[in-house]
Amino acid sequence: MGPSPDKPGWFARTLAWPRLFFSRRPDPGTLYDLRGDRAIEGAGEIPLVNMGYWVGIAPKGRNALQNACYALFELVAGGARIVGTDVVLDAGCGFGTNAVFVAQTYGPARVTGVNVSDVQLATARRRAQEAGLADRVDFILASVTRLPLADESVDVVLSVEAAFHFDTREAFFAEAFRVLRKGGRLSLVDLIVPPAKKPWQRVAMYFVLRSQAVPEANVYELGEFVGRVRAAGFDVVAEENIIDRVFPPFRRWILTRPPWVQLRYDLLYLLSSIPYLIYPFDYVRLVARKPD
Ligand SMILES: C[S@@+](CC[C@H](N)C(=O)[O-])C[C@H]1O[C@@H](n2cnc3c(N)ncnc32)[C@H](O)[C@@H]1O
Repeated sequence: MGPSPDKPGWFARTLAWPRLFFSRRPDPGTLYDLRGDRAIEGAGEIPLVNMGYWVGIAPKGRNALQNACYALFELVAGGARIVGTDVVLDAGCGFGTNAVFVAQTYGPARVTGVNVSDVQLATARRRAQEAGLADRVDFILASVTRLPLADESVDVVLSVEAAFHFDTREAFFAEAFRVLRKGGRLSLVDLIVPPAKKPWQRVAMYFVLRSQAVPEANVYELGEFVGRVRAAGFDVVAEENIIDRVFPPFRRWILTRPPWVQLRYDLLYLLSSIPYLIYPFDYVRLVARKPD
């Protein structure tokens, strides 16, 4: 395990946000490095970085988001029917929370998390070590659109709320197809940014794409998303829009946080992210299989 990468100080971060916002290509690695270990403020002890799956969980209290995040991990991993001999890849693995959860819950042979954020990976490695899983859980700094893995070397590809960042999602679907063995499973959830229909949505979308590092090539409807998974060669086993169980309760959770918690975010990031809370997103859960 390498040393923790240095985190930029307040001044360097303040200068970095406008550079990131106006950069020609979305750069989620820098975005998450800048957001640091508190990617979602006020979220309890475990670093969290997804909106959660809110079924039977009331959006109140610090641990509510943590419980919802684990419910989302369970939804995605459960869809892949992981067994003890499986080699699992977690694409866009955040702080490694899902990789550790999958190793502890389903006992696969190996879990490899892939991420472009150095800061998140340092935490992920530390967490796997603290859980006594360093021999079965490892992490790679790489883009999932160019995986440094051999063809047909993986049984399961998971991805939790990350593919909207990938430049492009299709490149990821092609890579997932390449590294999966025949009969291998792809199980994911993802935020869908449908094209803007009204003028205010066009303005909001501009801020969403720039503040959240989303390539414009990933803006399309859920039906198109499913079509592109099929076009990569997969058989789609299950797909549904679960936006109602994700975004409205997550928004309510945010509103239960005291205002000073929100103010711990860098101000420029906070302001540019406000349209994220109002854009008419969809959210897909999908399970697919590479044919034999
Ligand atoms: C919203 S976070 C979700 C993290 C994690 N899956 C979770 O649910 O806790 C999106 C993640 O995707 C990662 N990411 C974005 N683009 C990536 C890429 N091209 N390759 C690998 N990881 C990427 C980000 O660094 C971040 O960790």
